[in-house]
Amino acid sequence: MCSFLQISRNMHQGNQTTISEFLLLGLSNQPEQQQLLFVLFLGMYLVTVAGNGLIILAIGLDSYLHTPMYLFLANLSFADISSISTSVPKMLMNIHTNSQSISYESCITQMYFSIVFVNIDNFLLGVMAYDRFVAICHPLNYLTIMQLRFCIFLTVVPWVLSNIVALTHTLLLLQLIFCDISTLPHFFCDLALLLKLSCSDTMINELVLFFVGLLVITFPISLIFFSYICIIRAVLRISSTEGKWKAFSTCGSHFTVVLLFYGTIVGVYFFPSSMLPDDRDKIGAVLFTVVTPMVNPFIYSLRNKDMKGALRKLINRKSFLLLMPWASTFLSSQ
Ligand SMILES: *[C@@H]1O[C@H](CO)[C@@H](O)[C@H](O)[C@H]1NC(C)=O
Repeated sequence: MCSFLQISRNMHQGNQTTISEFLLLGLSNQPEQQQLLFVLFLGMYLVTVAGNGLIILAIGLDSYLHTPMYLFLANLSFADISSISTSVPKMLMNIHTNSQSISYESCITQMYFSIVFVNIDNFLLGVMAYDRFVAICHPLNYLTIMQLRFCIFLTVVPWVLSNIVALTHTLLLLQLIFCDISTLPHFFCDLALLLKLSCSDTMINELVLFFVGLLVITFPISLIFFSYICIIRAVLRISSTEGKWKAFSTCGSHFTVVLLFYGTIVGVYFFPSSMLPDDRDKIGAVLFTVVTPMVNPFIYSLRNKDMKGALRKLINRKSFLLLMPWASTFLSSQ
């Protein structure tokens, strides 16, 4: 990270850019809406951190859930907390202090990590589909295939790939020059918007954005697609209805999250522009960085018996009760 910032600063000077900060206009320029946005996003932030934090704690403390599927889920929750933390706290801070500025370095760092965490989510969904594929289509070999070392490998790969993707985009972005008015009509430093703002030629950046984006999406999507074809065929072969349900219930949550994540991509980026308002970038960003991370834990904990059981166990711990009385009332009412 240190050397990365060093590079950023050097290039920044080498290109005679005079810009030392950007202005983030946020989601609305209406002063009377700022209060509402603050409350709304603070609420979503707290719900996301609490929900995903509970999932990580529940999985970590319940040895019954120390299986690949739940370890990947804990990793997904961790990526979700990190994802929302790259943008929302800064946004809340800016609303609170009535400021719009973000330094050049912070902006690049924010962009870097928002790319990293969205990509980790994307790759992890592929890994989780593969896990369900092995569990349902090759149940007898599951334990030999999904050994701890291989699982760790499968969680490290998304991190490595995501950092490579983010580094590629960032190094290319650092070549660009930004002219005097550096105003982003957004609530965080988003790559696509930064490209629009630059006064250099961004053709290479746009091409890389497009092709890397395509590659990065195609790989997990095909993995998910082929996994689910095998899963559906395997589930159809099970004769008992109860067995069918059991197999299906372990993929149901994953499938819902997959639909939500890629449905957002298709909805925001592939629909004709005439059907969506001008700020599709903003809508997409809010969905990716705020809404998806927020609802993931609910999808998993509301549809999954084991997860519910683990959460209940967690909540019933005495030490925990002292910390979060409200959480226990929430869960016991389910
Ligand atoms: C992520 O997964 C690995 C194994 O695949 C596990 O050891 C690790 O604890 C998980 N991380 C979190 C935050 O749960």
